[in-house]
Amino acid sequence: MKKTFLLTALAMSCSIASWAQANYEIIPRPLSVEQPKKTGELVITANAEVGVDTQNEAMTRNAGMLVSNMAEGPGLPMTFNPKAKKPAIRLSLGLKSENKEAYRLVVDKKGVLIQGATEEGVFRGIQTLHKAIGTERTDTLRLPYVTIQDEPRFGYRGAHLDVARHFFPVEEVKRYIDILALHGCNQLHWHITDDQGWRFEVKSMPELAKKGSIRKQTVIGHNLNIYDGQEYGRGMYYTQEQCREIVQYAAERYINVIPEIDLPGHMVAALHVYPELGCTGGPYDVWSIWGVSADVLCAGNPQTLAFLKQILDEVSNVFPSEYIHIGGDESPRDRWKACPKCQAKMKELGLKHESELQTYINKELETYIAQKHGRRIIGWDETLEGGLSEDAIVMSWRGNAGGIQAARQHHQVIMTPNSECYFDYYQLKNHQAQPLGIGGYLPLSKVYSLEPVPAELTEEEGKYILGAQCNLWTEYVAAPEHLEYMLLPRLAAISEVQWTQPQLKDIEDFRSRLPRMIEMYKRKGWKYCPKVE
Ligand code: ACM
Ligand code: ZN
Repeated sequence: MKKTFLLTALAMSCSIASWAQANYEIIPRPLSVEQPKKTGELVITANAEVGVDTQNEAMTRNAGMLVSNMAEGPGLPMTFNPKAKKPAIRLSLGLKSENKEAYRLVVDKKGVLIQGATEEGVFRGIQTLHKAIGTERTDTLRLPYVTIQDEPRFGYRGAHLDVARHFFPVEEVKRYIDILALHGCNQLHWHITDDQGWRFEVKSMPELAKKGSIRKQTVIGHNLNIYDGQEYGRGMYYTQEQCREIVQYAAERYINVIPEIDLPGHMVAALHVYPELGCTGGPYDVWSIWGVSADVLCAGNPQTLAFLKQILDEVSNVFPSEYIHIGGDESPRDRWKACPKCQAKMKELGLKHESELQTYINKELETYIAQKHGRRIIGWDETLEGGLSEDAIVMSWRGNAGGIQAARQHHQVIMTPNSECYFDYYQLKNHQAQPLGIGGYLPLSKVYSLEPVPAELTEEEGKYILGAQCNLWTEYVAAPEHLEYMLLPRLAAISEVQWTQPQLKDIEDFRSRLPRMIEMYKRKGWKYCPKVE
């Protein structure tokens, strides 16, 4: 009996369709998909070849990814042959476009051609083909003739990951990057330090990660003063070598990693190690609860800036990103009001309000990081309050207001309003039916409704919107499966916000394309929320 069951199960899992057909109804929806009047199909079978017009490292890697996609989806073994005269799939450069991510995917009787404006464009085209060929196992793949012309609407298409509240191993961060790549994202905003854990190795200050990564215990549920009594985080930080490995892995998938050192608030883990940098002098414990701490870095202590510059030196050496995020959110000023050093600093600088102290820190760091490392800073929208440093980019999270204000001041903006972009909110109305979330209600349809360029802006001001991003804070998310569940399929919705021209967006059409995307999640073993609202 048992044996029969086993054999049947085996046959089912290995079942191979006699043929499968590609379907170009993918997410995010491309700019243009045209099927010729005179329809036809290209047939690809096992051992077909993948070729390249230009052989370089990036194109070879692109070809390798395409071969593994073919093995993973339909299960067709293909070979990369750089010398192939008539490959079934040809990767090519030279597409004329001002957008480096533009590509053209043509299927006709000659084969499949993916031509990019750059290697990055080719990579985007490969993702499109990956989604089009689907997951059905077959030894005969039929691709209807098509011409797809595509390029993203926004140059910044981000997803954030908080690894400070809960740590995720390198392998899970790589999975996260894989997920982003399939959805056409090109920025991973990596939140690596916070009150509850410092997770970035600073070689010149080894104690920072060694001690700052550990909290004595963690509050259970929504801060009800009950604790788990378990130490968390010992050794849970990323060495610089691991960070470089992640940066490299992401770069091969055309994703830039933006590190965030959240300052001057959200610094309790660092204050635990260096209490002299706080206004009261501590002692401070790495935080065991969630929320906003009154304890922040002392703005009047000259060691604070020296400390931050030293960290940013190492951050800049590890992360090649043009942008470095310096946080700036939720930094109460009560300690600064009561601190003689902070007050003396305000007097020295002729500042009227404590918010200007934060601007003072930001400006110092902006200049330092620009002059020494040639980078730009990003700050959360609170950084607008005391006046923004000149070249700073604003991340608008408390709704659209910060983004509108910043764009009007001609600062570049990344839109990540909590009402549409906070993936730590519940995605179904019935909270009880889901793993713990921070609260709120953010169904997929609400994510999809986001228009990153607020209607209040003029056309000229609208050009300051670089793009949009979803944020995944992990106070309540400790396990990789939970992380993926919060991300998917809402990432599919935001990917279309980020990529697709607004006139092509249609929620019902999007919903009709979603089941095939979900089949891909299943094939890849990614966890997702099975219900959408
Ligand atoms: C934030 O959610 N505190 C940026
Ligand atoms: Zn102070």
